[in-house]
Amino acid sequence: MRDEATGTKGKLRFEGVEKAFPTKDGEYKALAPISLDVEERQFVALIGPSGSGKSTVLRLVAGLEERTAGEITMDGDAIFGPGPDRGMVFQDHALLPWMTVKENVLFALDCNPDGRDKEEREKAASEYLDLVHLSRFADQKPSQLSGGMKQRVGLARAFALDPRVLLMDEPFGALDALTRGVMQTELLGIWEEAAKTVLLVTHDVDEALLLADRIIVLSQGPQARIKADMNVPFERPRDQDEILSSKEYPELHRELLALLREEIAV
Ligand SMILES: Nc1ncnc2c1ncn2[C@@H]1O[C@H](COP(=O)(O)OP(=O)(O)O)[C@@H](O)[C@H]1O
Ligand SMILES: [Mg+2]
Repeated sequence: MRDEATGTKGKLRFEGVEKAFPTKDGEYKALAPISLDVEERQFVALIGPSGSGKSTVLRLVAGLEERTAGEITMDGDAIFGPGPDRGMVFQDHALLPWMTVKENVLFALDCNPDGRDKEEREKAASEYLDLVHLSRFADQKPSQLSGGMKQRVGLARAFALDPRVLLMDEPFGALDALTRGVMQTELLGIWEEAAKTVLLVTHDVDEALLLADRIIVLSQGPQARIKADMNVPFERPRDQDEILSSKEYPELHRELLALLREEIAV
């Protein structure tokens, strides 16, 4: 169901969520009971050492994994299985090579019927391609685009689907530093236009501080828990240069790095 119909925009609640995986050496308890409320339209960054369960948290919300205990709800309804109300942005963009950029976005919309007619879907595809500055490339094939541009198509596609929650697992991890910076600015722009609840996994402290309203630090597993829950005080719309030169930035940056270092040291 679309936002207008429900009047809600992706409030998430985790209550005592645990996840254990069977392994050949017995059960591996990845997540300790985790409880967390994510407000609608909040932009949350999840950081933590490798193996702390960040991807597992996203996969649980996506409905790609089943929790072992506890409950996850979105706007009050328990999550069981995947659905178009939760969109994923993949690190490898997952575009279909034989379709044009615009066809890729439209195809995703066609696969997830939500009551919008053909004209409205066309309009959404064009609007979001415009927001990520790709209108000129709408009729090109993905092979003609750079890695960063393909990732921008992935962003446009995810937003055009109009999910209540967007899940991004290190979406810019495969990009070079310069392109990554451009992508972060694109994401800021598109998110500030069409604010959605976002869970973004990143290991980049700067990325988390630039983009998120709130940063959740997970501890090292097994039984990873929420080690810190930090509010990011920067006003929106955000400007990267202003943030970098603000007086709060160095302190927040140091604090986050220290929290991560403690985890990696053990
Ligand atoms: N399908 C699985 N089977 C067994 N163990 C898994 C599985 N998926 C993840 N794990 C384990 O759970 C822990 C958390 O994994 P993950 O969520 O991928 O961590 P992160 O994304 O923070 O690097 C890791 O120790 C990982 O090895
Ligand atoms: Mg991961």
